Amino acid sequence: MMRPVVYVTRLIPEVALQKLAENCDYRIWEGELPVPGDVLLREVPPVDALLSLLTDKIDGAVMDAAPKLRVISNMAVGFDNVDVREATKRKIMVCNTPEVLTDTTADFAFALLLSAARRVVEGERVVRAGKWKTWGPMILLGQDIHHATLGIIGLGRIGAEVAKRARGFDMKIVYYDTVRRPDLEKTLGMEFRDLKTLLAESDFVTVHCPLLPETYHLIGEEQLKIMKKTAILVNSARGPIVDPKALYNALRNRQIAYTALDVTEPEPIPLDDPLLTLDNIVISPHIASASVATRAKMAIMAVDNLLSAVKEEKPAYIVNPEVLSK
Ligand code: DGY
Repeated sequence: MMRPVVYVTRLIPEVALQKLAENCDYRIWEGELPVPGDVLLREVPPVDALLSLLTDKIDGAVMDAAPKLRVISNMAVGFDNVDVREATKRKIMVCNTPEVLTDTTADFAFALLLSAARRVVEGERVVRAGKWKTWGPMILLGQDIHHATLGIIGLGRIGAEVAKRARGFDMKIVYYDTVRRPDLEKTLGMEFRDLKTLLAESDFVTVHCPLLPETYHLIGEEQLKIMKKTAILVNSARGPIVDPKALYNALRNRQIAYTALDVTEPEPIPLDDPLLTLDNIVISPHIASASVATRAKMAIMAVDNLLSAVKEEKPAYIVNPEVLSK
């Protein structure tokens, strides 16, 4: 039997590449930056499977250039970089890597929340700039996390894990989602709110929904106006869920107090982006799932999904299972 041909769009943890090599012939883009679109189009014609990342736009044109393509295995829980509708039309499976990154991502959302609330990164900038002259009763005062109200937008796996961590800080937890979760309301002691009420009530708002047409700029001028002046907004989901211009205005005019972002629109954030001129912001370069152990698990899961698909078996995590029944 012919070995499946695979294209991998970036270097991923070795343990996953080894597994791939045992079962397939693969080529890989070894550049530090994402594979350029024209290179991808040149590489895909012979492939049965693609192992892609969230930085790769996998659209109908890529699929058309790869007539044998059976699976797009994305090494991420999010798959907004893949045109799933186009894939489904062509009976191409699309797979993702949920669950293995849930705890790591929730940990990081909390790290962002804590560092914004207690101005950790700003404090570090003060120290390095030689501006730490003495202990001061009025220096770098932040917001308390304990007993504050946390508003979670999107109560999927990651949102629920963030809620668990919030319980350890004795926070009051409210959430908004399109689907109510009475089970989690009970076990995690949280209450449902509509979006407006959540925004008005929360001291901290943390975003954990997927990027969909309905969630694009879900947090814009109107929503930021509803938030408390002391509120802190955390986004570790996808950049375009928050309107960056509206966020800049809200932070500059102190309509909200602070923001912490692991994701931006666009990515990477350009160095001349006005958000980078502000002090009341913490930004990290989309690293919420970036622990050694979790990235290895994500890569192995992406390879496992891909191998199942090329063997005509149902992958453990497929986002368009309807292709299997057609
Ligand atoms: C994802 O998986 O979607 C994250 O953004 C990166 O781990």
